[in-house]
Amino acid sequence: MRLSVNLNGLKLKTPLMLASGTWGLGDNIDKFFTKEEVETYIGAFVTKGISVNPREGNPPPRLCETPCGLINSIGLENPGIKEFKAKYLPMLKIYNIPIVVNLHGEKIEEFLELVEALKEEEIEGIELNISCPNVKKGGISFSSDPKAVEDLVKEVRKSWDNFFAVKLSPVGAVFEIAEICQKQDVDAIVVANTYPALGVINLKPLKIIKGGLSGPAIKPLTLRLVYELSQRIDISIIGCGGIISGKDALEYLFCGARAFQIGTANLIDPRNVIKIIEELKTFEI
Ligand SMILES: Cc1cc2nc3c(=O)[nH]c(=O)nc-3n(C[C@H](O)[C@H](O)[C@H](O)COP(=O)(O)O)c2cc1C
Repeated sequence: MRLSVNLNGLKLKTPLMLASGTWGLGDNIDKFFTKEEVETYIGAFVTKGISVNPREGNPPPRLCETPCGLINSIGLENPGIKEFKAKYLPMLKIYNIPIVVNLHGEKIEEFLELVEALKEEEIEGIELNISCPNVKKGGISFSSDPKAVEDLVKEVRKSWDNFFAVKLSPVGAVFEIAEICQKQDVDAIVVANTYPALGVINLKPLKIIKGGLSGPAIKPLTLRLVYELSQRIDISIIGCGGIISGKDALEYLFCGARAFQIGTANLIDPRNVIKIIEELKTFEI
């Protein structure tokens, strides 16, 4: 099968993108891959979410394994845009693959500040994480408020000409938000982020973790969203949820995705992406 994809100007050698937060900021990529492997197998690198100021993230426990899944509550830990540009971006630029920076903010102005800070950088695209709280609307997430998403996306589109993706939450007004993205000329939607979940760490005394569920457990849920969205709207879809094999990836492509992202599978085996692409190549379609 032909692997290269052009997502509204974002040229990918393979449809495989590394999902945000599961490869950090790329500073350890050389421990697992040669430069040639990166450039052969990885269509694009999506960074961990970056905010205006550094964030420490949540206290432990941050991870909890569940049957076929993983609950994470990292709390968007990151060094902030200034350090990202000075320290991490140069390490990523060694590789000749597109860099997509995942952004999160607590108000529209923060997203715009991030976009402004990235304008002079040679990066190929941005991906907005809209699952974060909007402080101007009492802390409910952008994704639970289609009007807030519309205002955000409209402003970002005005100030960013290159590839622009919005990463949807799988819960809430998913279809309405996807339609807003299409109307506002967003280049692609990533379907989707993790599902709100709770894991029990200890029964007595009760210790829980509230976070986002990812991994194979969510694949049928996200696959359905991808399929139904692709039937209803005409915007490029990047599928993301539970892919651990070439066959999983193929299912997403057949159900309407034009590219896909690999998240939890990287934590199981950082070299899984190579196996996924090699397996995908064996399908005669
Ligand atoms: C440890 C961890 C950290 C993550 N951090 C981010 C993040 O910073 N920003 C974001 O948009 N998504 C983040 N995600 C969500 C993933 O990018 C992906 O959307 C989700 O895990 C579903 O894909 P998967 O089932 O292949 O893991 C994170 C996921 C995990 C497991």
